[in-house]
Amino acid sequence: MGAIRLVLLGLVATGAEGGACNPVDSCPKLSDGLYCPVNDVTEHADINRDVALIKRYLEDTPDYAMAKEVYTMGNFSSKGLGNMRTLQDLALKDMTVGGKYTNVFYTGALSLYNSTSAIWHDYIMACLDNTGVCQGQSDSFRRYVINKALIGVVTAYATYEFGAAVWKGENGQTADGEAAYAWDEGAAFYIGNIDPVLGDGFSGAAPGNLYSPYEFNWKRDFDYPDGTNTHQASIPILNYGLINLRGSYNAANVKAAELGMYKIFSIAAIRSAIKYADKAYNGGTMEPKYLAEGWAYWRSASGYMSNFNATAVEAVDALFDLKQTSIPADAPCKVKTLVESLYPHLGITCAMVGKWKDAPTGGCLDSVCDDTGNSATLLGGSDAYVDMCKATTTTTGGSTETSLAGRAAALPAAGALAAMVALSCQ
Ligand SMILES: *[C@@H]1O[C@H](CO)[C@@H](O)[C@H](O)[C@H]1NC(C)=O
Ligand SMILES: *[C@@H]1O[C@H](CO)[C@@H](O)[C@H](O)[C@H]1NC(C)=O
Ligand SMILES: *[C@@H]1O[C@H](CO)[C@@H](O)[C@H](O)[C@H]1NC(C)=O
Repeated sequence: MGAIRLVLLGLVATGAEGGACNPVDSCPKLSDGLYCPVNDVTEHADINRDVALIKRYLEDTPDYAMAKEVYTMGNFSSKGLGNMRTLQDLALKDMTVGGKYTNVFYTGALSLYNSTSAIWHDYIMACLDNTGVCQGQSDSFRRYVINKALIGVVTAYATYEFGAAVWKGENGQTADGEAAYAWDEGAAFYIGNIDPVLGDGFSGAAPGNLYSPYEFNWKRDFDYPDGTNTHQASIPILNYGLINLRGSYNAANVKAAELGMYKIFSIAAIRSAIKYADKAYNGGTMEPKYLAEGWAYWRSASGYMSNFNATAVEAVDALFDLKQTSIPADAPCKVKTLVESLYPHLGITCAMVGKWKDAPTGGCLDSVCDDTGNSATLLGGSDAYVDMCKATTTTTGGSTETSLAGRAAALPAAGALAAMVALSCQ
């Protein structure tokens, strides 16, 4: 017992130093294998495992009760000392912390949907409980609302961390355990740390098992092959934000990185709206699960976009109203026109969004989107990745093992160990 208490105290002391890695220059990477955090953000990235677990509970014969338990109580992501980080907490977070942080991604959604719980939580609960807008709906409809809404919850939470990093930087908190830690957390929520079942986590087809916003963006990259490869573009942008928060702090560059991520989130939402408006219409026989998917993915950045033109965003919202029982034939064309009107305001272009690979030939989704007068660019970021994810060498019983501080070698974070020890003390 005495020994356990000593271990526990040691871990608590580690926690007080923020998210320092152990060894300090051997931080575990995320699913992409490129961005190198300067803190151990394993537990933060683990929230995407809860998204995956809920998805599994909702497969085949859905177990809504167990899915709800994961949503409300958590499973994989520990905050230390036995406290779990939950998707529900993320969904209900005041992302300005009483007005301290600036987060126009969140405040836009708040003013559009009127309360934090009305953005995601109320819908997730309605579909888990078979009430409200989900009452009497099919399992596939309920499952799509829940699964895809959770991607939106995590996307929004990444913006919370970016906003926290910006504020900390502006307030002189530029040590690695301060602003950079918040930025790393944002990257961790966005990318996740599940080992990809195929590929390297960056190139080729989306592996399909990451369940993170990054993978959602990746799937849309595949759907819009001539547009910007957003999931790949995000990594140097995230890296650029990090290096501008460390050492030579540059406030403008950090804000540019935050804006770059907002643009990427907007492109993914817009691509989804165009694609799923058509798939929901389904040639005249509405496909409810695609209405749910389009609703959720559009909503993943609709609040942010409403800062630029709320009327246009509300018009798209109406076209994805979950209460619809049929979709008008002109809905996909209307969505395309409405979202395209937003591009100049968002600082994105038709070329970045690209054309949906399955746009019906000769139809409006196949028509040219015109960039005349719009020369917006997306931040290139930086490929000069931080060198804090070095291989560690451990000597065990005469043999020497070298392990990469990559995703496969990710160790449980201090928080998880502390939680385990705390449990064994009871
Ligand atoms: C997490 O989920 C697994 C699989 O459903 C379950 O066995 C385990 O008890 C859960 N753990 C926690 C901490 O909720
Ligand atoms: C938000 O509140 C305003 C004012 O009460 C109302 O007009 C609007 O319909 C509400 N929006 C939503 C999405 O409920
Ligand atoms: C906002 O969008 C609406 C609907 O598309 C449009 O009528 C209006 O002109 C737009 N306003 C601005 C300022 O672009």
